[in-house]
Amino acid sequence: MISCICVNKSAFIALVPLEAVLFDIDGTLCDSDPIHFVVFRELLQGTGFNGGIPIDEDFFAQNISGKLDDDIATVLFPDDIERGLDYVKKKKNVLGRKSCAIKGLCKLTKWVEDHGLKRAAVTNSPRPNAELMIPTLGLTDFYHNHIIGDECEDAKPAPDPYLNALKLIRGFLFSF
Ligand SMILES: *[C@@H]1O[C@H](CO)[C@@H](O)[C@H](O)[C@H]1NC(C)=O
Repeated sequence: MISCICVNKSAFIALVPLEAVLFDIDGTLCDSDPIHFVVFRELLQGTGFNGGIPIDEDFFAQNISGKLDDDIATVLFPDDIERGLDYVKKKKNVLGRKSCAIKGLCKLTKWVEDHGLKRAAVTNSPRPNAELMIPTLGLTDFYHNHIIGDECEDAKPAPDPYLNALKLIRGFLFSF
């Protein structure tokens, strides 16, 4: 038997002792993957990567999406990582400041603020990317902390970035 319990939002917060929210950025607050995919596909095709055959979504999902720059560069140009990093950088310039906030982002962030929850951005994006994306999404004052995967012992999917975020948030909570 399937049962469904519907709670309204204020009942939910009363039931769950929620103190903090940890958000990713790319693909969570911002639907950036489709844009990354198109930009990567065009740039790589222009370089003759893969014999000029455009990369497909499977390639993107397995080898690029959510990965650190160094790992992407290694997959793309295993014999010339510097060249790979150069392309990753170029991609960022093309990506610029395209707006891609998810629908409902404003409502969500307002709800989190209204309930006085602590918040941190937890991302595998390099710091300059994250710090470009956060103001673009209008979230400069929203986040208390930015946790960057490659500044942690291990990036996601290892738990380190989330554990570091919790440590920082606890410090923040206890500082009152
Ligand atoms: C990911 O990259 C590797 C190395 O270039 C390649 O062999 C593999 O086919 C790629 N994955 C997909 C799903 O295309």
